Amino acid sequence: MAQQTREQWGTRAGFLMAAIGSAVGLGNIWRFPYIAYENGGGAFMVPYLVALLTAGIPLLILEYSIGHRYRSSAPLSYRRISRPTEAIGWWQVAICFVIAIYYGAIIAWSSSYVWFSITGAWGEDPNAFFFGDYLQMSEAPGGITGYVPAVAWPLIAVWIVVLAILALGVRNGIEKANKVFIPLLVVLFLILVVQALTLDGATTGLNALFTPDWSAMADGSVWVAAYGQIFFSLSIGFGIMVTYASYLKRKADLTGSAMVAGFANSSFELLAGIGVFAALGFMATAAGTAVDEVATSGIGLAFIAFPQIISTLPFGGALFGVLFFASLVIAGLTSLISIVEVVVSAVQDRVGLGRLQAVLIVGGLIALVSILIFPTHQGLHYLDVFDHFINQYGIVLAALVMLIVFGWVLRRLPAFQEHANSVSSIRLGRWWRITLAVVTPVLLGFMMWDALRTELTENYAGYPTGFLLTAGWGVAIGAIVVGAVIALVPWKRADQMAAHDRERTEGTGQVHDKEEGH
Ligand code: ALA
Repeated sequence: MAQQTREQWGTRAGFLMAAIGSAVGLGNIWRFPYIAYENGGGAFMVPYLVALLTAGIPLLILEYSIGHRYRSSAPLSYRRISRPTEAIGWWQVAICFVIAIYYGAIIAWSSSYVWFSITGAWGEDPNAFFFGDYLQMSEAPGGITGYVPAVAWPLIAVWIVVLAILALGVRNGIEKANKVFIPLLVVLFLILVVQALTLDGATTGLNALFTPDWSAMADGSVWVAAYGQIFFSLSIGFGIMVTYASYLKRKADLTGSAMVAGFANSSFELLAGIGVFAALGFMATAAGTAVDEVATSGIGLAFIAFPQIISTLPFGGALFGVLFFASLVIAGLTSLISIVEVVVSAVQDRVGLGRLQAVLIVGGLIALVSILIFPTHQGLHYLDVFDHFINQYGIVLAALVMLIVFGWVLRRLPAFQEHANSVSSIRLGRWWRITLAVVTPVLLGFMMWDALRTELTENYAGYPTGFLLTAGWGVAIGAIVVGAVIALVPWKRADQMAAHDRERTEGTGQVHDKEEGH
């Protein structure tokens, strides 16, 4: 039975590398700098830190505690807490499915751009090159037409790498890959930041990023952005950390690990902000414009502004480009691995498949959907809308529901706190329960209301309503429906495994809740 042979991390450092690898991703490099810049610059650091301390780290600890305590994938762990909450787990699995399909596409584009940095393929006009020559993007969203092999091939390669690493297992695949990728990423990125800081105009860029606009703090959407960024960036609300913590040994410092992972992720994020804005400062200076003329959103930043910077650099442009895009590829891969692992692990627990089979079937399906959608002419439209809706009404909403259910309906936070404290170095006090049961849900609830208000008054990014109803709302609500439907299907194996687990945990003196919900 899968439960008896559950895989484990080799070392604590291995787990930490994997947790940091999951956290540090495209979100750090591709999302954070512009989110910070657009939401008050230096003043954004206040909501950001509040979000990290009141939601990020406490939720990391919660997810680690659940995974470690129940030693199962997200749906099975939640089912063991209380049967109906299994639906939240499958909802998170569905969210991971959606994120994985588009996340892989961005890594594939980045890998093409490693090569284009050397060849200078984008020529004089990176904008026309990216949307036209490379993606061959259609004007109108919706439907599926055309297929671009230049996007498909790197995407296939990305999926082969991800599935191969996952097939090798937790210790030999995920852990080893992260132990190589994370130090490599840090080295590459540090060289990039140093190179960026030596450019003319770097300080102009840093001033633009860090000069605080305090009025932004009174704007609800800035807080929404801060919490959204923390959730996406720390990989919480996806079920990833429940899954990764389920492979921990009995003796594991949960709170200490959450602090290390949380602060490591934010440090990297800050470093990325510095590197990216130093480079943008150079670009603005070279073009004789203000930084706000050159700073754009995520895709524009990575695939249009950066190529421009690379072409403008008097020397070392190719190196700068290779460092930047290779960092995106590496950071993205380690996160994508963790996202797909949520789905693989859940299906493994659900149907008792071996790892190789689960990776081939489940991972193969995710890869197939990704490869079918994103190299089409509409790929970028789908990506944009999936990303917006699944973050806002997937990750963040799932986290809110989880907190209300575990904190208020089932009142399990004291049991999780007791579990974390029984194994951890830093003991949790009442503050932990208060942040999770009161502070975070209130803020997340406000965020939801505020975001929904905007959503219902104006179409996201000006897309047609029909497209938003299917690709946006359809996908976000579809993930909830999928979660509920899968949870309704009877699952005998889970009950057998739970009985088996109870026998075993009683034998080892593991802390367990009296009112196990099944
Ligand atoms: N945590 C991952 C990122 O930041 C998903 O991209």
